Amino acid sequence: MRMYDIIEKKRNGQELTTEEIKFFIDGYTNDQIPDYQISALLMAIYFQDMTEEERASLTMAMVESGDQIDLSAIKGIKVDKHSTGGVGDTTTLILAPLVASVDVPLAKMSGRGLGHTGGTIDKLESVPGFHVEISNDKFIDLVNKNKVAVIGQSGNLTPADKKLYSLRDVTATVSSIPLIASSIMSKKIASGADGIVLDVKTGAGAFMKNLDDAKALAHAMVSIGNRVGRNTMAVISDMSQPLGYAIGNALEVKEAIATLQGNGPEDLTELCLTLGSQMVVLAEKADTLDEAREKLQENLKNGKAFETFKRFLESQGGDASVADNPDLLPQAAYKIELPAMSSGKVKKIIADELGTAAMMLGAGRATKESEIDLSVGIVLHKKIGDIVKEGESLLTIHSNRESVEDVTEKLYKSIEISKDNVQAPNLIYATITE
Ligand code: URA
Ligand code: CA
Repeated sequence: MRMYDIIEKKRNGQELTTEEIKFFIDGYTNDQIPDYQISALLMAIYFQDMTEEERASLTMAMVESGDQIDLSAIKGIKVDKHSTGGVGDTTTLILAPLVASVDVPLAKMSGRGLGHTGGTIDKLESVPGFHVEISNDKFIDLVNKNKVAVIGQSGNLTPADKKLYSLRDVTATVSSIPLIASSIMSKKIASGADGIVLDVKTGAGAFMKNLDDAKALAHAMVSIGNRVGRNTMAVISDMSQPLGYAIGNALEVKEAIATLQGNGPEDLTELCLTLGSQMVVLAEKADTLDEAREKLQENLKNGKAFETFKRFLESQGGDASVADNPDLLPQAAYKIELPAMSSGKVKKIIADELGTAAMMLGAGRATKESEIDLSVGIVLHKKIGDIVKEGESLLTIHSNRESVEDVTEKLYKSIEISKDNVQAPNLIYATITE
C-alpha cells in the first residue's frame, strides 16, 4: 500500500477501505508517514468528505492507536456523557452524582480546561483535598461502590488523534465534520462506556455556530457510535449565552451544589434532567424518558442526589462539608459589580467572550502550563430576555486584583442591551438518535 495512492483516491472523491484508513493512521502514529502527506490527505477529506463507513473506520483506527479502558469489571451498563464544549457548563458536576443516585454507573474520565472553556477536573479540585490521581483498580472499586468516580485522562489514549489534531490546527482542517466527529468519538469509545449521550452545543459561544452544522455533527457522531456497537444519542442545546449564572471553577461548584439541592438555575437544571433522562434510559434503569425524569426529579427533592455528591467528594479525598457550607470554597478578594449603561432588555450575552473575560481574571489557562485561580470568575444576574434598568448590576466580577478595567471593557462589549422585545432562546433544539 502506498500513501500516494490513498491521497489520490480521496482527492478524486473515492471511498477509502478500512485497510487503507488503518494503514495511514498506524503509519502516522508510528512516525512512518510524514506530516506533509497526512496534511494533503486531511485537505482532501475536508473537500471530499467521508462516507459513514469511512468515518466509523477512521474512528476505530484512532481508538486502536493507543490504550483502551476496560470497564468490564464494573457491574451494569456504563454510560458516558460528552459535551462539545461550553462556557460555564457545569452539567457534568451535577449529572454525575444525579444519575449515579438512580444506580447508573458513571466511570468518568475528564480533562482540564484549556482556553475559555473550563474543565471538570479543575472545577472539582476547588473542593479542598479532592484529587483524581487514583489507580485504575481504585477507580473501578469506587464506581462499583458509589456508582460514580472521576479520573484524569490516561497518558496514551488515542495518540493518533493527538497528532492529527495538532496537524489540523495548523493546516486549516479543524472544521471538518468527519474529522471532528471521529476525533471526539475515538476518545469516548477508547474510554470504555457502553452507551454515550452527546450534548452538542450551538450558538455564538459554541464550536458549531449554527443549528444545521450542529445537527450534521450530531448525526455524524451518533452514526459512528451506533455503527461500532455503542448505543449513542445526541441532544442539541443552546450556547448562545452561558449556561446557568456562574462562570469560574469554585463559582460553578457552588452553582452545582445549589442545583443538586433543587435550587439551581432553570436552564442548567432542565439540561441536566434532559441529558440525565437519556442516560438513565440507555443504562436501562427506566423504560421511558418520563419515568427516568421522574426518578431524577425525585432524587433532587429527597436529597439522594446531594448525598451521592457528598459521598463522591469524600471518596476521592474531598472535604464534603463544602457541600453544606459552600463559603468554604476558595473565595476571591474583590467582588465588583458591572452596572448596566442603559435600560431595556438583554439581547446578547456572548458566551465565549465571557469565558475569555473569566480567563483574563485567572479562571482559565492561556497555555497548558498556566496556573489557574480557582476562586475567580463571573456571576451573571441577567440572561437574554431579562429586563434591566440603567445602573442595575448585570453581573458580579469575582477577582483577586483590584483593578479590572480590561475585563469590564471586554464584558461591556459582550453584552448588548436593546429596546427590542427580546425573547429568551430555546434551550433544547433537537434530539438525534440516528
Ligand atoms: N474537539 C475534539 O476533541 N476534536 C475536534 O476535532 C474538535 C473538537
Ligand atoms: Ca454555569
